[in-house]
Amino acid sequence: MNSPVMQGLTLNTPAYVKHARLIAWVADMAALCKPDHIVWCDGSDAEYDRLCQQLVDAGTFKRLNPAKRANSYLACSDPSDVARVEDRTFICSERPEDAGPTNNWKAPAEMRATLQPLFDGCMRGRTMYVVPFSMGPLGSPIAHIGVELSDSAYVAVNMKLMTRMGKAVFDVLGTDGDFVPCVHTVGAPLQAGETDKTPWPCNPTLKYIVHYPETREIWSYGSGYGGNALLGKKCFALRIASNMGRDQGWLAEHMLILGVTNPEGKKYHVAAAFPSACGKTNFAMLIPPKGFEGWQVTTIGDDIAWIKPGADGRLYAINPEAGYFGVAPGTNTATNPNCMASLTRDVIFTNVALTDDGDVWWEGMGEAPAHAIDWQGKDWTPQIGKETGAKAAHPNARFTVAATNNPALDAAWDDPRGVAIDAFIFGGRRSTTVPLVTEARNWTEGVYMAATMGSETTAAAFGAQGVVRRDPFAMLPFTGYNMSDYFQHWLNLGSKLQGTGAKLPGIFCVNWFRKDENGKFVWPGFGENMRVLKWMIDRIENKGQGVEHAFGTSPRYEDIHWSGLDFSREQYATVTAIDKAAWVQELQLHAELFQQLAYHLPRELQETKARIEQRLAA
Ligand code: GTP
Ligand code: SPV
Ligand code: MN
Repeated sequence: MNSPVMQGLTLNTPAYVKHARLIAWVADMAALCKPDHIVWCDGSDAEYDRLCQQLVDAGTFKRLNPAKRANSYLACSDPSDVARVEDRTFICSERPEDAGPTNNWKAPAEMRATLQPLFDGCMRGRTMYVVPFSMGPLGSPIAHIGVELSDSAYVAVNMKLMTRMGKAVFDVLGTDGDFVPCVHTVGAPLQAGETDKTPWPCNPTLKYIVHYPETREIWSYGSGYGGNALLGKKCFALRIASNMGRDQGWLAEHMLILGVTNPEGKKYHVAAAFPSACGKTNFAMLIPPKGFEGWQVTTIGDDIAWIKPGADGRLYAINPEAGYFGVAPGTNTATNPNCMASLTRDVIFTNVALTDDGDVWWEGMGEAPAHAIDWQGKDWTPQIGKETGAKAAHPNARFTVAATNNPALDAAWDDPRGVAIDAFIFGGRRSTTVPLVTEARNWTEGVYMAATMGSETTAAAFGAQGVVRRDPFAMLPFTGYNMSDYFQHWLNLGSKLQGTGAKLPGIFCVNWFRKDENGKFVWPGFGENMRVLKWMIDRIENKGQGVEHAFGTSPRYEDIHWSGLDFSREQYATVTAIDKAAWVQELQLHAELFQQLAYHLPRELQETKARIEQRLAA
């Protein structure tokens, strides 16, 4: 079909697209956004190469030295566009209480009235890419389809690495399949004949990341970065999918999924929720340390899990994504060798530094180069860094890479049935108070632990950093509906599973980030987190010992497998000690959270809090 949308613009719909409602929607959006051209992405390698070359020609991409990083590129963003913008993210449900106090809410009609004039002509002078994608294995009963319209070629190529993107999606959609419509613009239209003055067009002053949960729509304006722009990720797979999950009885979570196989060949699966830039990618790619010969950890996902109850009463998880959009700073061959091995070719880097030999560098990668071009295009030397504090890479610099690059990829990562979850882990970044690991006594106390979790904020979101905020389930920026209803949904699911007689997954709370009086991390972390993981598996097998305290059960020094690591009893005490006064204060913060979430807050959580307080006082 080649129907004109407006003067001079044709839809260019490929013959293999047979979905009238989708075509009509693309035509409507094109009439509104008024791009110069429309390109339907087929997801082929040739298309990827062509778009990357186009981005090189536009100055958005630099091709890296192929001898150092084959088929890889560097993009540097506008300094105003470097992370998710939580204060510009909106959940536009009909009723404000359905968005709840943790989300920014606007009435849908009001938001539509605001966005309409902004989107009118927003793609002038640009190409609208039609990007069809599947979250989850194509055709899987657990997967869902989205179509993103974007005026950013950077988005199109990132979506190719991050999702199952392209032509095959239309085979699944057929003539009337369901899809989540996602519209994205960088919000920087061009006048006739005008070309971009900057390699990273965006709207430096106005951004809107908008979700309509009832109609399952996403509209994103003004940013080209990460979760603001790659709409399959946080917008769809968490904010919209959490709404689908509530309605349909499943979970959409900010969780990595890993497989761990013991030397006897028995395999377990755990899903772990840590807030942004708190170690999900690292944990998902963990290499067992010295003392764990014969153990193996494999990656199913590093950021998002969709989890559905099976007929057997167990929970089955898939990774809806097909790639990693991971934090670069701090990643190196010691902290995450599998990740570094994933990054040798076919990578898009964003906001890292460019070395003189055409490679990339970031803080915490290893020895600094004598000279580099920093993420803002300025000269950088270790001396400059020292004198001015300038970072070579932005603290939220990221890499985009296909999951298939990961040497530790789990054989079942693409299995449409998912993997059965044995344990959930929740963890925040806390320099004090929260011990290394605690097992909840039961599902309800586990939900309490997850609901009241706090974490120090990171560069993954725009705004203040390093302040402790409550981040329930590591989902504070991602739960697309009322947080208290979300807690209730977790409790309901637990009751439902309990009813089947199946063994529920254990729930654990971890903290890798306790610091000593000099501000240094005490726990070695990274691969050594295997020691904590093993204790959890021991607990699942009813073999692990521990000591019960006010919030649950934690291992004593002698309950951890220490072979291969020098870690003293004193050091262990530093990361596990429970300071009663600090916990009295902590519970005060739980109380404040519960006050904020009073509407629909499950009674069980208040009751759990009272029980913990009693135990603490005893
Ligand atoms: P998002 O992609 O933002 O959702 O985050 P993520 O949870 O996948 O973050 P990632 O694994 O990339 O975490 C990056 C940061 O956490 C880096 O600064 C790492 O150095 C740090 N980190 C990860 N694991 C550990 C650990 O075990 N101990 C310590 N101290 N730091 C860690
Ligand atoms: C996060 O911030 O949790 C991320 C990165 O995973 S982004 O996709 O940009 O949200
Ligand atoms: Mn994330």
